[in-house]
Amino acid sequence: MPPKSLAAGNWKMHGTLASLQEIESLVQATSDNKHSCDVLICPSFIYIAAFAERTKGTNVMIGAQDCHAHASGAHTGDVSANQLADVGASHVIVGHSERRADHTETSEQVHAKAAAVHEAGLISIVCVGETESERDASKAEAVVTGQIIASVPDSATPENTVIAYEPVWAIGTGRTPTVKDVADMHDSIRATLIEQFGQAANGFSILYGGSVKPANAKELMSASNVNGALVGGASLKAEDFNGIIDAYR
Ligand code: PGA
Repeated sequence: MPPKSLAAGNWKMHGTLASLQEIESLVQATSDNKHSCDVLICPSFIYIAAFAERTKGTNVMIGAQDCHAHASGAHTGDVSANQLADVGASHVIVGHSERRADHTETSEQVHAKAAAVHEAGLISIVCVGETESERDASKAEAVVTGQIIASVPDSATPENTVIAYEPVWAIGTGRTPTVKDVADMHDSIRATLIEQFGQAANGFSILYGGSVKPANAKELMSASNVNGALVGGASLKAEDFNGIIDAYR
């Protein structure tokens, strides 16, 4: 199976209940089925139930930005993948670089979270990416390969797992790697997945993330082994995000 394309929006700690308006607009904009990618928005936990209710039966899916590694238990303030499934989430982002940096999440923890997502019957979006100093030291590929091996659990299949390559220095900065650098990294990620999972790994979707905008989406999405985008800032407004989905129209 060739990988499915996915345009995923990560709203981070942005948005309010009034942002349901943006979801409405996105539902409208994608209702003609003229796009060939899946469309996903990941708002803060507290909005998932309401947004998922509104998008039932539409072309927009709703996901989460993180989850706990356990299905339930005494973990004050945390949310489990089972609970996310219960309120209608389809995907869970795990290991975003902001979680790795702000909450010192390790690849071992990301591995456990991704396994919990699969256990709950949801799709994990496992994020990897090098820092600027790692790229400057020519260690980008080694760092990303190490993150893939340590973060992607054995339960991963092309049906329940999406990989997102997001160079940390490109997130929210307006800077992007060259299309060749993106293609080289995505080719390398594909090769690592094939070593880990065999030829079935050709079916995993590998997203690029980091300053994707309507103006650069088509070019970035055309790179080798790029099967979609994980978008932060440009996913907050339906008009911008729809402009990125245009890469698949
Ligand atoms: P950005 O964020 O599109 O605002 O650079 C991407 C991300 O962090 O997923």
